[in-house]
Amino acid sequence: MLHDQAPRAGRQVDLLAIAEGFAVSAGGITGLRGLDERAWILLAATDLFEAWAIGWPPGGRIDLHDHGPSHGALVVAEGVLTEVAVEADRRGAATRTARYLRPGDHRQFGSHYVHDVNNDGEVDAISVHVYGPRLTTMTYYELDRGGRPEAVRTEEIEPVGPFDTTGAHDPA
Ligand SMILES: [Fe+2]
Repeated sequence: MLHDQAPRAGRQVDLLAIAEGFAVSAGGITGLRGLDERAWILLAATDLFEAWAIGWPPGGRIDLHDHGPSHGALVVAEGVLTEVAVEADRRGAATRTARYLRPGDHRQFGSHYVHDVNNDGEVDAISVHVYGPRLTTMTYYELDRGGRPEAVRTEEIEPVGPFDTTGAHDPA
């Protein structure tokens, strides 16, 4: 039964396909435009994944973070976002990769992927983020002198219910 296998959701669910599906209509969430700061709305919460739409005003950003053991996919529905991914290899060398994500562009990532996301543009952006299994922790990072990500804090995430659209945690 699917319920018994929920912890393996990252491999059982095509997170990108779900994110792309929601991204088709995410522009219809007009409340995610004209914001003073980033805001998010829960689109779906199941045993296998959760899906969020996030509104990014110009200058909106989230610091370097991971998504704990969850896998994820993000798709830009409107506007342009800048993603910077940071990876350190086993020898300790760090690489920093910046990408512009335009409408329809996506990122798909495994557990403990570390990135930050910014709206460096002059117009609002809306993106869809899907995580499976559902988010349980997010760790935030700063870069050390070698440019390697160094954990500064971990937030435990309370699961949101299907009718809780105010999710207190930051799902980016
Ligand atoms: Fe993220």
